[in-house]
Amino acid sequence: MEQSKELYEQRVRSLAPAEEPERQYYFIDVMRSVIAEKEARKGRKLTMHVETFGCQMNAKDSETLSGILSSIGFEESDSEDADLVLYNTCTVRENANTKLYGRIGYLGNRKKRNPDKRILLCGCMMQEPQAVEKIRKSYRFVDVIFGTHNIYKLAELLFDREVAGELVIDVWDKPAGIVEDLPRRNKYGFKAGINIMYGCNNFCSYCIVPYVRGRERSRNPEDIVAEARHLAENGVREVMLLGQNVNSYGKTDRMDVSFAKLLRMVSEVEGIRRIRFMTPHPKDLSDELIAEIAANPKVCRHVHLPLQSGSSRILKAMNRHYTKEQYLDLASRIRERIPGVAITTDIIVGFPGETEEDFRETMDVVRKAGFIAAYTFLYSKRTGTPAASMPDQVDEATAGERFKRLLAVVGEVGAAQAEAMNGQTVEVLCEEYKASEGTMTGRLDNNLLVHFPADESLLGELVSVKLTTCKGFYYLGERA
Ligand code: 5AD
Ligand code: SF4
Repeated sequence: MEQSKELYEQRVRSLAPAEEPERQYYFIDVMRSVIAEKEARKGRKLTMHVETFGCQMNAKDSETLSGILSSIGFEESDSEDADLVLYNTCTVRENANTKLYGRIGYLGNRKKRNPDKRILLCGCMMQEPQAVEKIRKSYRFVDVIFGTHNIYKLAELLFDREVAGELVIDVWDKPAGIVEDLPRRNKYGFKAGINIMYGCNNFCSYCIVPYVRGRERSRNPEDIVAEARHLAENGVREVMLLGQNVNSYGKTDRMDVSFAKLLRMVSEVEGIRRIRFMTPHPKDLSDELIAEIAANPKVCRHVHLPLQSGSSRILKAMNRHYTKEQYLDLASRIRERIPGVAITTDIIVGFPGETEEDFRETMDVVRKAGFIAAYTFLYSKRTGTPAASMPDQVDEATAGERFKRLLAVVGEVGAAQAEAMNGQTVEVLCEEYKASEGTMTGRLDNNLLVHFPADESLLGELVSVKLTTCKGFYYLGERA
């Protein structure tokens, strides 16, 4: 038996193509027959549950992961009782890690009832050697651990696990080229993310991303446009261009296409009606980009511009390369040149050394910049980053109290911005239908949501809606 298993493994491996993505399509086929055999034994389809933590990049990666799994033959399930559970993890903040260990423990109990269950972990947290070590020691029932650079290898790793019969770990500290054209399962048929670059070179002093996602690499503009075209042909109307710092698109790879030019190229794809992007860095948001957003009707009037702190002193310690004044100046230039634009932001409270005075500077920027929404975070100490060893770490109670005050101001400023738009008729993308209430949820150009009576056939369409009631950070409306 053992010998025939070995022979089978040798044969499978010897026939595998060396080139990607052909190699992965080969392993998808191999795994499809392995899974078909299990299905025959169990007399039912096998199920999968992919759960995504963290940012848009992970959401995008999860579409590829789900695409690979469904090509293998798994059926989607929203339960953690599924035959295969995959967590695509995030490590930006420490408490996310703590919670994840709890959830892995819970999956382990489920596996006792279904020993055929497969538990897979990938994503940013797995790029941290301490996390992998802890799982290897304390959560032996996990089946596969992989990182951010080799998600495309999922089918091959599943095969490795089947033949090894125990935990398989494959985490790379560096990327090895960009593998494209893998199966992909779009969560929404009408909108999709497109990676334009990977990694980050900024090394903000609090942030772990550059360590787990590696250095900046940009994709070829032709590949990006081809992906947009393919998506549009399959019904996608809105695309979001994704990168940790989209303004530096092409710079490190010495391409002659700037991010503004790339926006223009994608907007020329027939069928694409709306374009969004995440995330620009205030330190190098160019006038060329502002001009492109202003001139290009397909680009949404929404700029997510992470502030992090309003204190120039703290910004320096964060290694952000801009001052409070420069940020405010940029925000007002954006507003002047792009009428009706909405600006949203990210803010960290309780960075080491933050005083009451520094915090007030942040509150001041929130008021002056007029954010329509802000994502607020309590500073989380990430081992290995420069900020982790900075003096004067802010105590929890002080940070918590500031956080509450900030939330109140953010809510107040956002509601005033939203209120100012009430009564207008706007174009929205119909994203979600609630049958029990007969209402559709549409997304405005500026990223806010409106609920209005409609029927399901409008899902994925762009329609005009009159905003009738402002509920603070969302609206009620009616079709216009
Ligand atoms: N602590 C708290 N928030 C952080 N972010 C990144 N690193 C940390 C950290 N160590 C926030 C930043 C970033 C967003 C994605 O997460 O605000 O813009
Ligand atoms: Fe982290 Fe700064 Fe890079 Fe954003 S720009 S991923 S906050 S290091």
